Amino acid sequence: MSTGTSEAFSYRSGELHAEAVALAAIAEAVGTPCYVYARAALEVGYRAFAEAFADDDVGLCYALKANGNLAVIRTLARLGAGADVVSEGELRRALAAGIPPDRIVFSGVGKTRAEMAAALDAGIHQLNVESLPELEALSEVASGRGQTAAIAIRVNPDVDARTHAKISTGRKENKFGIDIDHAPAAFARAAALPGLRPVGVALHIGSQLTQLAPFRAAFERVVPLVEALRAAGIAIDRLDLGGGLGIRYRDETVPPIADYAAMVRDAVGGLGCKVTLEPGRVLVGNAGLLLARVIYRKEGAHRRFLILDAAMNDLIRPSLYEAHHGIIPVRESAPGTRTAPIDVVGPVCESGDTFALQRLLPPLDAGDLVAIQSAGAYGAVMASSYNGRPLVPEVLVDGDRFAVVRPRPTIEEMLAQDRLPPWLA
Ligand code: LLP
Repeated sequence: MSTGTSEAFSYRSGELHAEAVALAAIAEAVGTPCYVYARAALEVGYRAFAEAFADDDVGLCYALKANGNLAVIRTLARLGAGADVVSEGELRRALAAGIPPDRIVFSGVGKTRAEMAAALDAGIHQLNVESLPELEALSEVASGRGQTAAIAIRVNPDVDARTHAKISTGRKENKFGIDIDHAPAAFARAAALPGLRPVGVALHIGSQLTQLAPFRAAFERVVPLVEALRAAGIAIDRLDLGGGLGIRYRDETVPPIADYAAMVRDAVGGLGCKVTLEPGRVLVGNAGLLLARVIYRKEGAHRRFLILDAAMNDLIRPSLYEAHHGIIPVRESAPGTRTAPIDVVGPVCESGDTFALQRLLPPLDAGDLVAIQSAGAYGAVMASSYNGRPLVPEVLVDGDRFAVVRPRPTIEEMLAQDRLPPWLA
């Protein structure tokens, strides 16, 4: 789905704008590289999702891992979003952004006891348990505190999500969840342990799925499991179907949210469970871009390179997953301008620091601004300060105003984070 991107980022009088703000003005004020998010796109995306499920008993728990900026989370929280978190850091972010604890689910394959305690302290809706040792640990933590944790067990349905291998999670060789065939035994164990109340089945088969069939295959595998568990006396009344719906980066055909909703209804509606969904990318991916400036255009003997001031440490998706992101000039090129292939790279000292190979672009030169599109999800959250580069700042636009929602650290601040041991001082 487009999440309203076309309205959120568009050329006005030949200049790319985020809503009513010229990106050139943001570059001037904040410097580049920086991420720019559009409130309107976040809102359109969330509402589209919520409306598709308006008639169902469905809780939308935004997967914070896609974009953990407090301002982004709060924008979604104000629209009614819950949260899917995978660490104490994300839990605290969700709470700080104003998401009520009873709309927070805690996923993740390696929750520590300290994280379990933090979740129980906060009184969250549910923890999704992914292994037998985790079940035992949570039982000890909860019962030791005189509490009972509402849990779902994440099952691994062994379904091919037909997406990039690094973001597939539902095959039996993946580290996630408990093999669906072992789930009845795990639930029986959970029911026997103190401090646990097994109430749900959870799954998540991968990210950036562009077909509904793998979702359906996985969801349909859960139905007989829930029936068997109920027959065994375990009162399952919740399903957590994870996230994973993809967005359009290039030319992917993405199923409309309404079709996804109809499929969910059709596959599991008969169970009468309260359903939780954990969308991440689909809510924020196309609501953000990475704004960068060309430092040099380099004419090699064999290739031409556009060297940007953004790099793999700011947006790692192309390096890590061979992901395609659209790259467009901030100043609109005149109709009929000829394009030519060029490699778009960053300044980091790795050949993998490449945003695009042989991308057809209009003539661009040092000083020109470009926008790397569809960077609202898994962009800033995956950034690092590799090569001594300051962590990339983030900006939120709302109509004709914008605010820096995470400033760029100064080099002094970065230096001040390190400590010299006494013997080197
Ligand atoms: N729930 C669970 C348990 C997950 O593991 C994930 C994503 C989500 C929900 C949200 O999935 P989404 O709706 O965003 O697809 N860094 C990768 C994506 C990793 C996704 C990991 N899990 C990328 O840049 O493509």
